[in-house]
Amino acid sequence: MSIIYNMDCLEGSKQLLADETVDLIITDPPYNLGYGGTGQRRVKQMGFGIFANDNLTDREYRKFTINWIREAYRVLKPGRHIYVCIDWRNYPLLFWMLQHVGFTVKNCIVWDKVHMGMGWQYRYRHEFIILAMKEVHKGRFRRKAPLPRREPQKNRRIVNRSLTDVWKIPKLSGNKMIHPTEKPVELIVPMIIQSSQPGEHVVDFFVGSGPVYEAAISNGRLFTGFEISEDHYNSAIKRVKEDPYNE
Ligand SMILES: C[S@@+](CC[C@H](N)C(=O)[O-])C[C@H]1O[C@@H](n2cnc3c(N)ncnc32)[C@H](O)[C@@H]1O
Repeated sequence: MSIIYNMDCLEGSKQLLADETVDLIITDPPYNLGYGGTGQRRVKQMGFGIFANDNLTDREYRKFTINWIREAYRVLKPGRHIYVCIDWRNYPLLFWMLQHVGFTVKNCIVWDKVHMGMGWQYRYRHEFIILAMKEVHKGRFRRKAPLPRREPQKNRRIVNRSLTDVWKIPKLSGNKMIHPTEKPVELIVPMIIQSSQPGEHVVDFFVGSGPVYEAAISNGRLFTGFEISEDHYNSAIKRVKEDPYNE
């Protein structure tokens, strides 16, 4: 059964997700930019409020980030992928922390958003999506006694290995957005198809308006997500009308 929980992802994951049971993590954490969106307004003002954990001190943000990455490492099956959205400002931190926790960073996808956004020393048109793996028989927190395995452990490869790491997918226009940092579903679908099989379990720690939820469900995957804000949680659950697994 697929489900989104209106709760903190650390609390939720610790309570609800067992060790090494998740096939794929796709997540878009706060970038700590204190960004509430601009919307399509004449007067420059934020279209939304600043969301949780997007306006922390550097120290708080580092602690917040290492904690959720550790949790992601715990729940992901060995040999499986994690995709993490981030922009150029916190890319170095995320890269370092993913590696520090035990993931192997495999690539950095550049999302070309086609339309420019803010920024005045070259207008921003790209974001990054880090692809990392919890490699089999590697990692800092390897256990002494291995867990009983339900399936043979193998490092998973992406399905179509001729796809490049620059993805040109238009961002949503401001007046269509229901979340200040909403990602188009078209951006998420290739990650689902490339790194999981139908029926497998996809997790998003920072659901927002729910594009990972929609992409997972519409491609026959099971989904678990966490969203701390009640408003964004409500937008996300409205997104998917029919989930074949939720009968
Ligand atoms: C960058 S946004 C995700 C946007 C989403 N990808 C979309 O397209 O709509 C991050 C989201 O994480 C939520 N959030 C922040 N801290 C959280 C936490 N500790 N647990 C769960 N959700 C959290 C925020 O409310 C925000 O909606």
